[in-house]
Amino acid sequence: MTIIVTGGAGFIGSNFVFHMLNKYPDYRIICLDKLTYAGNLSTLAPVMDNPNFRFVKEDICDREAVYKLFEEEKPDVVVNFAAESHVDRSIENPEVFLQTNILGTATLMDACRKYGITRYHQVSTDEVYGDLPLDRPDLFFTEETPIHTSSPYSSSKAGADLLVLAYHRTYGLPVTISRCSNNYGPYHFPEKLIPLMVINALHDKPLPVYGTGENVRDWLYVEDHCKAIDLIIHKGTVGEVYNIGGHNEMTNIDIVKIICKELGKPESLITHVGDRKGHDQRYAIDPTKIHNELGWLPETMFKDGIKKTIQWYLDNQDWWEPIISGEYQNYYDKMYSNR
Ligand code: NAD
Ligand code: DAU
Repeated sequence: MTIIVTGGAGFIGSNFVFHMLNKYPDYRIICLDKLTYAGNLSTLAPVMDNPNFRFVKEDICDREAVYKLFEEEKPDVVVNFAAESHVDRSIENPEVFLQTNILGTATLMDACRKYGITRYHQVSTDEVYGDLPLDRPDLFFTEETPIHTSSPYSSSKAGADLLVLAYHRTYGLPVTISRCSNNYGPYHFPEKLIPLMVINALHDKPLPVYGTGENVRDWLYVEDHCKAIDLIIHKGTVGEVYNIGGHNEMTNIDIVKIICKELGKPESLITHVGDRKGHDQRYAIDPTKIHNELGWLPETMFKDGIKKTIQWYLDNQDWWEPIISGEYQNYYDKMYSNR
């Protein structure tokens, strides 16, 4: 089995590459990644010498490069993680989101049509469903919830999802889609809530909570997401969408307080800053379908996962220090000064 994993130098993609190489020693895993600001080759250092692994630095929008790779590798399966993934950046500059998330997806699927594959899997997000009100804890996103997006990021992901379903219906491409809630764990890029707060707290810097901090996210340990995708590509039904989430809803402010407590830092570091434009209130996944059909259940409880994650950032400063000392500083100043 040969699998092309796009975006494998990013947060979830790299965890998926490790999971697959570890679990299936006879599979060939090809990582196709453009190495944008969010992609890190150092993340993949532990597998670079594995004879079943190949890294290819290319853009999923580059048709010629993508076709060449399909000709060389003749993949059985493609799992598309490659995306611009940060909501705040999409609010500043939507265009690259449309380029990579929509046109890149179409280019990959065109290659799948041309060369033939057994499965194209699209890694999507619960954000395509928009948000739920804070005062209706009885409501959850199911696979039937209408697409109703809020940000340029989520709109680009929703556009991609619609294209994936259209390629299935129109061309018979054997596709599946997964829509997961917020992930956390090792190799999470420092711009995102949990690593940002851990790293700022370690430096005794202000912890910038958007608005009231009452917005709710549904957190899942990254390994559980990877295991769910593994199940879907092997046992999922072609043409179907699967929601992935572990019923672990938390407010942002509670997450930040937990991080302060774990690191022994004072809550006085918490600083309420201007809210995100169009900020989604609450995400909450109903994972009944993937549980009933594929037997998936999350294995890592948040109380254990957050400890492991914080410890990982303490033990791996040589991973994140170079990231936050470069271009990231300009980004941080632009997004957070005068907010
Ligand atoms: P990330 O930003 O950490 O990584 C994205 C990777 O894609 C990077 O390695 C980057 O270099 C690569 N990439 C970007 N543009 C590319 C292009 N044009 N061609 C090739 N490679 C390109 O993202 P992540 O958090 O790991 O998310 C991965 C996927 O999972 C995304 O599709 C995202 O929408 C989805 N998702 C993320 C979460 C989450 O909580 N992080 C939850 C649900 C779904
Ligand atoms: O739900 C899945 C989505 O989760 C993925 O599709 C996205 O790719 C991923 O980035 C994530 O999106 P969010 O916008 O939920 O994640 P983020 O870490 O950016 O923010 C989480 C919450 O924390 C959100 O309510 C905004 C808030 N926040 C974020 C940052 C970076 C803050 O209050 N302060 C911050 O500095």
